[in-house]
Amino acid sequence: MQEIQYLTSYQIIRKLAAGGMGSVYLAEQLGAEGFRKVVALKTIKKEFLKNKENVDLFVGEAKLVADLIHENVLQVYQLGMTRGTYYIVMEYAHGKNLSDFIKAHKDRHKVTNVDIGAFVISRVCRALHYAHEAKSMGGKPLNIVHRDVTPSNVIITYGGVVKLTDFGIAKAVVMATPDEGEVIMGKLPYMSPEQAKFQGTTAQSDVFSLGLVMYELLTNTVVYNVNDIDDLVDKMDNYSIKPPRRLNPHIPEKLEGIMLKALEVNPANRYQTAREFGQDLEHYMYDGGYGPTNEKLSRYLARLFPEESTQAIAGVHDSSHGTNVSGLLPVGGGSSQPISQEDSGEG
Ligand SMILES: Nc1ncnc2c1ncn2[C@@H]1O[C@H](COP(=O)(O)OP(=O)(O)OP(=O)(O)O)[C@@H](O)[C@H]1O
Ligand SMILES: [Mg+2]
Repeated sequence: MQEIQYLTSYQIIRKLAAGGMGSVYLAEQLGAEGFRKVVALKTIKKEFLKNKENVDLFVGEAKLVADLIHENVLQVYQLGMTRGTYYIVMEYAHGKNLSDFIKAHKDRHKVTNVDIGAFVISRVCRALHYAHEAKSMGGKPLNIVHRDVTPSNVIITYGGVVKLTDFGIAKAVVMATPDEGEVIMGKLPYMSPEQAKFQGTTAQSDVFSLGLVMYELLTNTVVYNVNDIDDLVDKMDNYSIKPPRRLNPHIPEKLEGIMLKALEVNPANRYQTAREFGQDLEHYMYDGGYGPTNEKLSRYLARLFPEESTQAIAGVHDSSHGTNVSGLLPVGGGSSQPISQEDSGEG
């Protein structure tokens, strides 16, 4: 077998955000003859690199999700390392994450249109079910669980396509360690009861987390507004979730029933799969005729962010050359050289 040895460079354009594990940058992948491709590049913070467990998790997940290709899953292109800093190169999703989307509504004293909200969540269901069912090239189930389904990990592109990102802390059952129970991952308000009680996460845990995201999307209210895990477990065990129609009367009864079924604390009563959840949402949306589509979502987002949705991607130029890339940011080291990644051809 022949292998092509190559050197890929990434030119950082600007920082998009600082997140939990590191920062996210807008970048361009540079190729032969001035070839350029806009990508997003996520680095892992130095402090995580000191901890071998975190590095293994980061690397393991990148390998695990490398072959996930689905319209609603944000695609990972490459895992690289330069000067001691790991980075993941991925598809750049030009749009808004759901956290900003919800905030834009709150700022206007509004709440997301019910059908648009159902559409967004139904697409995340597709992404989740696809990943949950994914098999290795050799046909073995990968047992992927996302474990971090939160508003900030759902991006809506200005074209109206919903993308679930960051299978970064998702962990295949085959990779589970015996002391798993001592490590809490995921964000507190979006945890499933199983995750909060260290019972191990399953595909159904992602369904619950997505139910929490949906509740927030359609009511502007975080279900479990808690600061510590004991408080979370107490609320899950001793209080029932307020029916969402009390917070937003525009939610039809049928949809409320779907939301509460996704939010059943007992997994036996919950949707068994993300597909079932998604199918009920689609039935709700399309039963009466022509329901929400990518185009409708795109127009909705454009109304919410009229300026940003029509602007070009800031910093990216049609005929850009290395010299006119603005705001060059170093990753890891102190130099402003583009990141170079020497691929030894392994894997
Ligand atoms: N591929 C991407 N394309 C465009 N924007 C992205 C991309 N990846 C991340 N972002 C933006 O960067 C933000 C920060 O991402 P990051 O994943 O680092 O943190 P987070 O989602 O807030 O937390 P978590 O560590 O739980 O994922 C995202 O919310 C999103 O707005
Ligand atoms: Mg994220």
